[in-house]
This record gives sequence, C-alpha cells and structure tokens, in this order.
Amino acid sequence: MPIYHKLGRLPAKRHVAFRQADGSLYYEHLMGNLGFTGLQSLLYTRRRPTTVKSVTPAWTTPREAEPDSSLRMRHLRSHRLATPGGSAVRDRQLLLFNDDVALSLVRPTGADAFFYRNARADEVLYIACGGGVLESQFGSLAYREGDYLVIPRAIIHRLVPGAGEQIHLVIESRGHIRTPHRYRNAHGQLLEHSPFCERDLRLPSELPVHDEVGDFTVITRVGEACHAVLMDHHPLDTVGWDGYYYPWAFSIHDVEPIVGRLHQPPPVHQTFEGDGFVICSFVPRLYDFHPEAVPAPYNHSNVMTDEVLYYCNDEFMSRRGIEFGSLTLHPDGLPHGPQPGRTEDSIGVERTNELAVMIDTFAPLRVARAALACEDGGYGDSWVEDA
Ligand SMILES: [Fe+2]
Repeated sequence: MPIYHKLGRLPAKRHVAFRQADGSLYYEHLMGNLGFTGLQSLLYTRRRPTTVKSVTPAWTTPREAEPDSSLRMRHLRSHRLATPGGSAVRDRQLLLFNDDVALSLVRPTGADAFFYRNARADEVLYIACGGGVLESQFGSLAYREGDYLVIPRAIIHRLVPGAGEQIHLVIESRGHIRTPHRYRNAHGQLLEHSPFCERDLRLPSELPVHDEVGDFTVITRVGEACHAVLMDHHPLDTVGWDGYYYPWAFSIHDVEPIVGRLHQPPPVHQTFEGDGFVICSFVPRLYDFHPEAVPAPYNHSNVMTDEVLYYCNDEFMSRRGIEFGSLTLHPDGLPHGPQPGRTEDSIGVERTNELAVMIDTFAPLRVARAALACEDGGYGDSWVEDA
C-alpha cells in the first residue's frame, strides 16, 4: 500500500541499536515484496523472528479440476456448498483456479489455534457475511461485512471472527495486490478520478505486544502444501513498525461508483489489480441518464478474459435466477449479455441496488471438482427464449 504508516515504538534511525528495558536489543526485521524494490516495512520484535524449532508437513490442498472442462456457461450456488469444519484456513472450499488466482469459499466459526502465513500468494478476503478482528504482526484490524481484507504474503496473522454467520470469498493471488495503476500518480497517491481514496482505507490501529514463550505454530502455505512451523515464542511480538507493507481493509460500500449518460464499461468498476486478473466492485448506483439510454449492458465477447461474478446480494440488472452467493463464470469463447427480457426491462429504470464482486482473469479458469456439488446445470439455457 503506498501509504506510510507506523505503530508502536521505533528508534529514530533505521539499523541502529534499539534496546529493551534489560539492555538487550530488539530484533529488526525487514519485510517487503519484489526483492527490496517493492513495498516494505521494518518491524522491531521482542524475540528473533528466525527461531524455528521444527518444520513439518501439515496438510496439502491439491487443486483438483473437474473432469469435464467442455466450454459452457457456469453458475455455482456457492453458499449451498457444504463446508464442514470452521477453520478460516484449513476448511476453504476451492471453487475456481488458474496459475494466477484461486477462489475459495470459507465459513470460519472461530479463531484457529494456529497462526497462518501464505508464503507464495497475497490473499484478499471478501467478507460476504460477518466481522471480527484480524490479528497480525502489524497489529489489529477490525473487519466487517462488505470489506475487502487485503493480506500481503508472508505476514503472520490469524482471524478472530465475531459472533454470527461468517462467509468469506478468498482470492489467492500469485502477484501482489494493488490499486489500479491508472488511479495512482507517480508518487502512488490515488488521483481525483479514482472511485475511492486513501481516506477510505483502514489500516491496523492497535499493536498488542505478546510476550509469551512456548510452542506456537504458524501454518505456512507454499502453494498446495501447508507446513507447521513451530516457534518458541508468540509470533505477534512486534513492539513497533513503520513502512508501506501491512494488511489493510477497504469496504465495497465505500466505492463511489462512476456513472455516465450512457452505459459505462466494466473497467469503471475496477478496484484492484493483480498479475493476470483484476477485481471489480458493482455497487448501488444511479443508472445512465441519457433519455434513451439502455442501462443493461450490451452483449459482448470477452475475448482473452474469463469473467467471474460473485453476487453479494440477490439483485443484478442483467441476470435472473441468481441468489446471494451465486458465482457465475462466463468463459472466453462464448458471447454473453443480458438474459431475454432484461434489456427491455432496464429502460427507464433509474437506479440499481446490485452488489457484486467481479474477477476477470486473462488466462482460462478451471472449475474445482469439489464445486460441482453446488452447480446450477441449467444456467446455459437461461439465455434461450422461454427457457
Ligand atoms: Fe461481461
């Protein structure tokens, strides 16, 4: 994140002796991406971050694709998928994936006994239901329904869900997650035409310092393999940090939609970019205000793109038969557009209350075998008149 932030106690200069009450040194720890050229932060901890008593295989999450990958429109009623177990990490149900991005659904029911770190991927959690606190090496960050919770790779953290139902869409990204390039100036600041600004972003705000010693497990994901890394102290022992690398939250409800006299294309809804995909937010807004405008989108061929929509409520102007939690995949190779009647119905309508997250990938997606259990097999017929 191109915003400088700091919490806790810091020495006046980098890389100088910073002493604890007993005269011993705090341990300085640089964490950042792109090999010293990307965003980074400096942390100071009570104990050595390098102390590892053991590393043992914990579990693997093979990305198994469905056997039949023939070309067709897809609709997964993802919230109907059985999700046994309530771990925010272990009990994710894989839905779609390619080499750039993987989408999973999870329903955490409580805090895990272990901490978690993804070594190879940034994670964005879209909080469809619920709220709680993200505990991390960078402090505590409250999250709530509608948040995108962005957790850059390598950060040790744990979700502490609050009461009530929790449903999270997990977006795991090979490349680092950032705001769209066209909305930033050369200094990284968000520009006036951006649909959100730094004031909308929420950063860690409190830094509890844990001083416990003993066995603490950090589940560390490296691709499909999760390892149990056993440390001899509580991993959240940061006394201070500063920099640009940390977890942050941004609410979909803080997107200020860009509207026009005529239909605006999907890129106006873009919220994040990764490598090989983008994330967009469709939010309640006024429709196009030309007197003869057609608010529903025109048919289009999404050449070189697979389009995924995750419906965060049960309204969407161009689609019928969807529900909260529906996840549609319109693959490259088939034109798509409004279902019969939806274009005509949209004329003269002044506003929409739709809420959806779109993930457009530039490489084809695979449907996970486990997701077939919640598929609406008749979705492709919904464009046929009178179907
Ligand atoms: Fe589309």
